[in-house]
Amino acid sequence: MDRNLIFRRVLLPQIRNIEEPEEWQHFYYTQVLYYYGYNMYREDGVETNKPRIIIFSGKGGVGKTTAAAATALCCARQGLKTIVISVDIAHSLADAFQREIDLHDRNRGKSVRIADNLWMQEVDIQEELEKHWGEVSKYLAALLGASGMADTLAEELAIIPGMEDVVSLLYINQYYREKTFDVIVVDCAPTGESLRFVSMPSTLEWYIKKVFKLERNLMRVTRPIAKKLTDIPLPEDSYFAALQDLFLKLDGVDDVLLDRDITSVRLVTNAEKMVVRETQRAFMYFCLYGLVVDAIIVNRLFPRDLQDDYFKDWISTQQRSLEEINRIFDPIPLRKVPMLQDEVVGTDMLLKMGQIMYENLDPAALLYRESPYSVEQNNGNYALKIKLPFITKDYVDLMTEDGNLVVRIGSFKRHVFLPRVLSGRKPGRASLEDNVLTISFSQEQGDYE
Ligand SMILES: Nc1ncnc2c1ncn2[C@@H]1O[C@H](COP(=O)(O)OP(=O)(O)O)[C@@H](O)[C@H]1O
Ligand SMILES: [Mg+2]
Repeated sequence: MDRNLIFRRVLLPQIRNIEEPEEWQHFYYTQVLYYYGYNMYREDGVETNKPRIIIFSGKGGVGKTTAAAATALCCARQGLKTIVISVDIAHSLADAFQREIDLHDRNRGKSVRIADNLWMQEVDIQEELEKHWGEVSKYLAALLGASGMADTLAEELAIIPGMEDVVSLLYINQYYREKTFDVIVVDCAPTGESLRFVSMPSTLEWYIKKVFKLERNLMRVTRPIAKKLTDIPLPEDSYFAALQDLFLKLDGVDDVLLDRDITSVRLVTNAEKMVVRETQRAFMYFCLYGLVVDAIIVNRLFPRDLQDDYFKDWISTQQRSLEEINRIFDPIPLRKVPMLQDEVVGTDMLLKMGQIMYENLDPAALLYRESPYSVEQNNGNYALKIKLPFITKDYVDLMTEDGNLVVRIGSFKRHVFLPRVLSGRKPGRASLEDNVLTISFSQEQGDYE
């Protein structure tokens, strides 16, 4: 690929976003050039296809790990080079594959090849945290412990996002960039945590933009004085280097997660009222974060022809729930999986489940690809539309903060980094109709940037 193209497509957009001193921009430039240049030329100028990322989420115990493992196995059997990564602290992938993993195994936390075309990895969060975030957290601890530190800064830093999630994103981004695998299957922690996980890129971007800038300014002013007068710990260069390094490694992961040609979420649910509720909420939040849900997997259905007096109430409950699921998730494809005759562990059972789950569908395919976000233009006026099923208007809160739009629903908050056509415009009226939140943007240029 010619260098000009790399520069235009890759480097410029990256560098444009930096409001940092020149020497940092230069550093950035070389890093980015190194990273992308290396990866692009490695393939002798031939661009390979983009990897596919499939995220499994759902309430605890519904069958996420099993469904993720079955999906990965089916993909691998098709000849796709596949990795299934568990980002749940309570790992159970190895159990699903029936692998004895020695706790002292040197491969712990790393990817392990378990079959033709198939790798699995149970990320060792603690170790990774120390590795990638050690410097930063040391400084944060010192900083927060020091009295008299600027309150605002301490406050900003205190809300530092869950680094566990960042660790998993690091891997996803790494595998994505390296194109090591055709398919990356992610087995998530139960809903709440997996939502935190997918909201991480936008939180982190916000964090880095805000705190980085704030802190730099602060440093510029206070460093010379502080050095003489106080014993406030000052960050070592290694702190900035660690943050910078982390940022570089994460850079672009939000685009990857929000790219509907690459990433989709499969929600696993059971046909029970409480589980369906949670699935419904999860679905809404995934929409809020702009992720495409491409299938709902209804797991553990009792076989229709099961004639059992003891289970008859269960069977009719499931039937009712299933109708509701059909209604609320339409048109997203439903995949129904019965309760199998035994627990789903080991290759044979996983393959069986996979075959039932996908029938004649390609497990790696995008089963649905309509994005919950869209921008519409009408006579020079723009509207941002976000599909947010299952909410009422008094539940949604809209704010602007530092030139970004903030949508708050319950305890979830999404910083929406507006598409270029919208930044610089003032957000106006918001309306909610047919599950679509529409925010109009007026033509006039506001103080909105
Ligand atoms: N369709 C199914 N039929 C029978 N057992 C299942 C089915 N789906 C999952 N299981 C079993 O249910 C248990 C929990 O599944 P798991 O995938 O670990 O749930 P989660 O990851 O959502 O917590 C496992 O023992 C698994 O083998
Ligand atoms: Mg699990």
